[in-house]
Amino acid sequence: MTQRIALVTGAMGGLGTAICQELAKAGHKVVASYHPQFDNKDAWLAEMAEAGFKDFVCVAGDVSSLEDCEKMVNEAEAAAGPVDILINNAGITRDKMFAKMEKDGWDAVIATNLTSLFNMTKQVSAKMAARGWGRIVNISSVNGVKGQAGQTNYSAAKAGVIGFTKALAAELAAKGVTVNAICPGYVATKMVMAIKPEVLQSIIDGVPMKRLAKPEEIGYACAYLSNDLSGFTTGATININGGLYYQ
Ligand code: CAA
Repeated sequence: MTQRIALVTGAMGGLGTAICQELAKAGHKVVASYHPQFDNKDAWLAEMAEAGFKDFVCVAGDVSSLEDCEKMVNEAEAAAGPVDILINNAGITRDKMFAKMEKDGWDAVIATNLTSLFNMTKQVSAKMAARGWGRIVNISSVNGVKGQAGQTNYSAAKAGVIGFTKALAAELAAKGVTVNAICPGYVATKMVMAIKPEVLQSIIDGVPMKRLAKPEEIGYACAYLSNDLSGFTTGATININGGLYYQ
């Protein structure tokens, strides 16, 4: 198969790591984008090498900054080649009931989880279209589909991710570039483990499968959507949530 260059944002988090691994297993060259404040890059790379993933390229930058995104993609292209696959995965939470939410918690989540899609996609989409092949996968959330108390900021951003996906999919459909969204449910990552134990337990009790997702169950869907044979799938939102919610 043709080896593609895949850039994954938020690559060193729980979900990002699994996405990088599944894309590498599918034969792609992976560029791992991470926040400059993440200070465990070397340990992460050592862990990846130990697991058999030895040639990840790393680029550092804040996805909420347009300049950083331009710099990261330039570095990725210089080190690995043109980006064929973009996985917009970086995301944060600042959960608070709306009555207590401050503007900074709203702004941070919108900037990192939604404006980042403009910032990153802008660097690659026209070039993908010019080459006639591209895959853009945006990580939304079950909570962008159903809404979640305590997450007006996150639910709004993740719903925005779906709107962005559908609109861009329509723009690029005739150019060989697909744009799809994945809506994970609750995945066993640090982000979810930060929920108070009693709240998390009640969430798991509400999942028909009575468990959290394994990160690789989401990573695998990214590899699926990045495949040549997913070329007729665009503008889709794939729910992977253990039966928690259907549209
Ligand atoms: N629906 C409606 N009301 C709710 C509620 C719910 N699910 N949960 C709590 N409340 C209400 C309580 O009844 C209480 O109301 P009263 O004050 O009238 O009694 C009030 O909210 C409690 O508010 P507080 O601000 O005092 O609550 P808190 O500070 O203890 O916790 C919270 C607020 C941090 C948002 C907490 O409820 C929480 O963590 N909720 C879970 C949010 C969540 O699911 N986050 C997902 C994170 S992981 C992720 O986002 C990944 C992904 O994509 C799935």
